[in-house]
Amino acid sequence: MTDQARVSVGIVPWYMKAVHVLPPDLAHSLSRYAVSLPPPKPLSNPKLEVDIIDGLRLPNPIGLAAGYDKDGDLYRAFSRWGMGFYVVGSVTLKPRKPLPRPRLYRPHGGLKLLNALGLPSKGIARISGRLHRTIARTTLFLSLAGFSLDEFRMMLEVASRIPAVSAIELNMSCPLFEDPAGAEELVKLAGRGWGKPVLVKLSPRHDVILEEISWAADRNGVGLVIYNTIPVRTSLLGAGHGGMSGLPLYGLTLAAIRRARRISERIPIVAVGGFLTGGQVLDVVEVGANAVEALTAVAFRGPLAFRKIVKELLEELKRRGYRSVEEARGYKSRSRRPLELPPMLDRAHK
Ligand SMILES: Cc1cc2nc3c(=O)[nH]c(=O)nc-3n(C[C@H](O)[C@H](O)[C@H](O)COP(=O)(O)O)c2cc1C
Repeated sequence: MTDQARVSVGIVPWYMKAVHVLPPDLAHSLSRYAVSLPPPKPLSNPKLEVDIIDGLRLPNPIGLAAGYDKDGDLYRAFSRWGMGFYVVGSVTLKPRKPLPRPRLYRPHGGLKLLNALGLPSKGIARISGRLHRTIARTTLFLSLAGFSLDEFRMMLEVASRIPAVSAIELNMSCPLFEDPAGAEELVKLAGRGWGKPVLVKLSPRHDVILEEISWAADRNGVGLVIYNTIPVRTSLLGAGHGGMSGLPLYGLTLAAIRRARRISERIPIVAVGGFLTGGQVLDVVEVGANAVEALTAVAFRGPLAFRKIVKELLEELKRRGYRSVEEARGYKSRSRRPLELPPMLDRAHK
């Protein structure tokens, strides 16, 4: 069965179908108001708890991915809607304006989105001021997007001093970090000891060097977030290009997590890309992910998406005979031996 057939049946509620009559840019803006409604009752269960990185314990493994709340202005309201953690950002060093409209497009008949927002941000100084005044009730990650190593270094210095931030993600979708040397430099910087866990977020463009980046992450004590959107050229967006999110990413992400886990048993790995149901979350936990992030799920299942996915995850744990998410983790990769080092890397590390 295809991913589309497995996942789509009945998961889009009537009110989201009604919202989908509107242009996607407008629907996105409206959904930001919906999250200020009273949140649903929390669904907590010890079976769902996970240690994601350096003893950071989460009430459930499903977090909001970077991009929904770029400036952290929804955190107070939306972080109470059932996610296990919440990523603010990506934040850039200096303020940036968005790309021309339309910035979002929802193709018919598929659980996917095209977007070209262009990393708009109020800039790290404004966001860090806001987050310094925030009390984190739900574990807060901050995503940083830099266009050079120096930019990342400057932002890491600021972000690592914000008490409410529990972990930092480095969005490495800038072309400078696409080749092995650039990617390795960034991983080294991430592993320099910032007093908080740091993870690097890969784009599907990194798929060809996934093993190299996983080795580097393992050596430098850095976590991985896999993947950002699939780059596309399209006249449907104002910028003429953008990124595709949602179900088309799911198979790619699942395969990549399997490969990264074969390189290292110990690096924290967060899976992201087309996660819309609890069954999918358990699939990727079984191949070794520590946690999952989702964004497009909110566009299709609405603000209750996290609560629904968590509920399905509990049911799916029971159906597959696991006592907890931790017990399921890596179940399908445990029998495999770690990969031998590729010859080029093997020489370099002797
Ligand atoms: C509208 C939109 C904005 C996004 N902005 C960011 C961003 O600022 N930083 C980032 O690392 N990823 C960003 N992403 C990528 C998501 O975090 C995620 O990696 C991707 O959408 C795949 O997950 P999904 O299929 O659950 O949406 C964005 C995605 C969308 C749809």
